[in-house]
Amino acid sequence: MKTIFSGVQPTGVITLGNYIGAFMQFPALQDEGNAIYCIVDQHAITVPQDPQELRQNIRTLAATYLATGIDPKKATLFIQSEVPAHTKAGWMLQCITSIGELERMTQFKDKSAKVGKEFVSVGLLTYPPLMAADILLYNTDIVPVGEDQKQHLELTRDLAERFNKRFGEVFKIPEIRLPKAGARIKSLQEPTKKMSKSDANTKATIRLLDTPKEIMKKIKSAVTDSENVIAFDEERKPGISNLLTIEAAITNKSIDEVVKKYQGLGYGAFKEGVATALIEHLTPIQERFREIVDSEELDKILDEGAEKANAIANETVKKMEIAMGIGRISRQK
Ligand code: TYM
Repeated sequence: MKTIFSGVQPTGVITLGNYIGAFMQFPALQDEGNAIYCIVDQHAITVPQDPQELRQNIRTLAATYLATGIDPKKATLFIQSEVPAHTKAGWMLQCITSIGELERMTQFKDKSAKVGKEFVSVGLLTYPPLMAADILLYNTDIVPVGEDQKQHLELTRDLAERFNKRFGEVFKIPEIRLPKAGARIKSLQEPTKKMSKSDANTKATIRLLDTPKEIMKKIKSAVTDSENVIAFDEERKPGISNLLTIEAAITNKSIDEVVKKYQGLGYGAFKEGVATALIEHLTPIQERFREIVDSEELDKILDEGAEKANAIANETVKKMEIAMGIGRISRQK
């Protein structure tokens, strides 16, 4: 049976990019194998967070996993900071990672430029070995993520191979799993850039909890081109291609089918159609979210998830410590 692992940061709002790139892949995988999903709160504090907001965002994210189809009877859902093995393994992996490797990570370059030169935390630099620990602790086979995580996944594989070579076989080498459509959903305002939680322009990003009115307004004001031809061409028509990708992903159709559906129509009708499909898709998710977010059931699910995750992760940490020679074997066994 395959093990599936993925994580999402509880920072700000969940976007349509997160949803299509990551969340949409999760429910199917819980039927394929042993699926483990994580709220990576320790990754979130690599940039400044308001403690009150962070606490709320953790809960929102947990409810989002469930509202989008995670079944706690099939999958494990837990909070990273409630499983101390992640920081232990993260530290050991940091010690076999070079500074140069971390400085080359595009996410580090982007994020450190955003937070400003005067304060870039060490945690932001050493984020990738912690992410590698998240994945490797569970003997993961498959990591469903969006395209922006590709470089981190490659480093994870390198670190696993390096560890195995230096200290003996401890880790499985995980594979990335990208969605068929929508591995990189673009900003509605600058459709060559990825849709991002931290975009200052609120019109650029659809949030999973946006109202139907907000969704309609944002899609209608999405930047397109002046050709008035509905066709898929990411180079020449990035705005239209992005909207086609969104509809194809949420309706599980091919891009060609969606293009056909709108043949002969103008951009106004096309945008209205995409927004309507999106509202139809998101409304039941939003309803489920509201039922779950303040429930006691949610805490129970997270408690059980932490217990299961701790059991697996502690075993791997023991193996890592023995392999590296730290601590005393008598206490680790
Ligand atoms: P995060 O929290 O930034 O994003 C969560 C997931 O959403 C995907 N994603 C997108 N997919 C398509 N189009 C977009 N515009 C878009 N924006 C975001 C991301 O690829 C991701 O799958 N480092 C990770 C969190 C993490 C993790 C892990 C993931 C920590 N440990 C272990 C997998 C396994 C991150 O910052 O994701």
